[in-house]
Amino acid sequence: MTAAIIDGKAFAATLREKVAALVPAFEAAAGRRPGLTVVIVGEDAASQVYVRSKGKATEAAGMVSTTHRLPADTTQDDLLALIGTLNADPTVDGILVQLPLPKHIDEQVVIATIDPDKDVDGFHVVNVGRLGVGQEGFVPCTPLGCIMLLEDRLGDLSGLNAVVVGRSNIVGKPMAQLLLAKSCTVTIAHSRTQDLPGVCRRADILVAAVGRPEMIKGDWIKPGATVIDVGINRIDNRTDGGEGGTRLVGDVDFAEAVEVAGAITPVPGGVGPMTIAVLLRNTLVSAYRREG
Ligand code: GUN
Repeated sequence: MTAAIIDGKAFAATLREKVAALVPAFEAAAGRRPGLTVVIVGEDAASQVYVRSKGKATEAAGMVSTTHRLPADTTQDDLLALIGTLNADPTVDGILVQLPLPKHIDEQVVIATIDPDKDVDGFHVVNVGRLGVGQEGFVPCTPLGCIMLLEDRLGDLSGLNAVVVGRSNIVGKPMAQLLLAKSCTVTIAHSRTQDLPGVCRRADILVAAVGRPEMIKGDWIKPGATVIDVGINRIDNRTDGGEGGTRLVGDVDFAEAVEVAGAITPVPGGVGPMTIAVLLRNTLVSAYRREG
């Protein structure tokens, strides 16, 4: 039996429509539209694409999108000064500093400067702490999107064995916290984990967020498990025996996994589109909280 395909693209489109449908009521009550400001430093090609997509999606949802494009040699002090200005601007509900930043800038210092109540990425230590103790705050967009897909598919997650492969601050760690908050039994696996295939095989929910193309094989997956593939890896078709060009693959070997799993997110069209949809959702939530 082959797995059901979890259509993140369709789910994200619906979420974006829901957010857009709520914007006019906010505008009527607050006399302004919700605003998201994105800051990008340097010319990283992938980041440029992401930032353009975020801007377009923000406008399509009826919100105010502002993008600050700063040169790669921007000083850390200048970036912190800009964040200070955005923190003080009452029309800015969400501030997102696109990562990675150039090497001479300390990402943690930059994130720590963002007002936690405008930190729609959920990266500030205050929001990390709020998530840890179960207080209201902002949750990173990609893991929150994964939880939405999981609950849509499985309903109540409590008691399920969840394995998160990857321990990044952006995905792995907050994903594990969210699954724990949903009463899963959570294992965080990583590059030093012993018998990684065996650990993965215990998972009712397997979340792959390691950034290694097609690392997770079909025989690592418990039959019927729900597999969430967060990886977006561009690989060269020629080294893959293909015809040339590149293609996107996840961290899961999809062709193998689809024969074993109960449900699986594809790459592309699975988790990826959820990130921006949740970002819009977080921005609207921020706007409502700030207008109190
Ligand atoms: N770079 C890659 N993903 C993200 C994200 O979700 N937020 C930010 N700020 N930068 C990123």
